[in-house]
Amino acid sequence: MRIAVLGTGIVGRTLAGKLDELGHDVVVGTRDPDKTMASADTDYVGNPPYSTWAGEHPGVRLATFADAASAADLVVNATSGSVSLDVLTQAGEPNLSGKVVVDVSNPLDFAKGFPPTLFVKDDDSLAEQIQRAFPDARVVKTLNTMTAAVMVAPASPGEQGTVFVSGDDTGAKGEVAELLHSMGHEDVVDLGDLTTARGAEMILPLWLRVMGSLGNPIFNFKVVR
Ligand SMILES: NC(=O)c1ccc[n+]([C@@H]2O[C@H](COP(=O)([O-])OP(=O)(O)OC[C@H]3O[C@@H](n4cnc5c(N)ncnc54)[C@H](OP(=O)(O)O)[C@@H]3O)[C@@H](O)[C@H]2O)c1
Repeated sequence: MRIAVLGTGIVGRTLAGKLDELGHDVVVGTRDPDKTMASADTDYVGNPPYSTWAGEHPGVRLATFADAASAADLVVNATSGSVSLDVLTQAGEPNLSGKVVVDVSNPLDFAKGFPPTLFVKDDDSLAEQIQRAFPDARVVKTLNTMTAAVMVAPASPGEQGTVFVSGDDTGAKGEVAELLHSMGHEDVVDLGDLTTARGAEMILPLWLRVMGSLGNPIFNFKVVR
């Protein structure tokens, strides 16, 4: 499948690397490919510059958000929640139309420092904002409830956890569930329509406190039943 992963951060890189390994044709989206490749900056946790990662993943191309999305069958939003609507606007409404848009972003607001608050919650979600802004996209919220490393290695915490999917389009959720299974996820729970993404996003304050308590992000939530 031709997949655009919008986002050059740790989540975009991790998902792009795994999807490439699985044999998909993967393009990562960024604002300015030349600038991104030229940057020598490490991120806030010391991850190497994008060019270092790209050198280790020669099969993954880098393009503008619009070029990446236009060539794709499926688009992943792996950008900072505060800019996701901007990024998807840059990707271009026609380039998202009719496509599955996998939203892994979180609506985190760091304005008051750490831990962040949520800039949308309770009676709305970032996933719903994206769906309203791009009504012809088939938005599926998933994977936002675990750290990037666990997204692509679901058994890495010691055992499998649960991954949630939310979306209004049953077919799109089926395609995403298949993709998740191919990535090794065994327990995919369909929460229901896209309003259920509110729950998946509002688990973040708990996720952050668990990480603080364990001192380690390699864990997952598991629904035992
Ligand atoms: N970190 C995790 O393990 C984890 C787990 C679950 C969910 N998430 C969520 O996944 C998303 C990605 O997280 P991340 O840490 O990988 O990356 P991030 O730093 O949140 O986002 C990086 C991306 O945002 C773009 N960006 C930043 N400012 C922008 C602006 N003003 N206009 C347009 N684009 C802008 C960057 O574009 P350029 O490429 O042009 O620089 C880059 O592609 C977030 O929503 C996060 O909450 C993260």
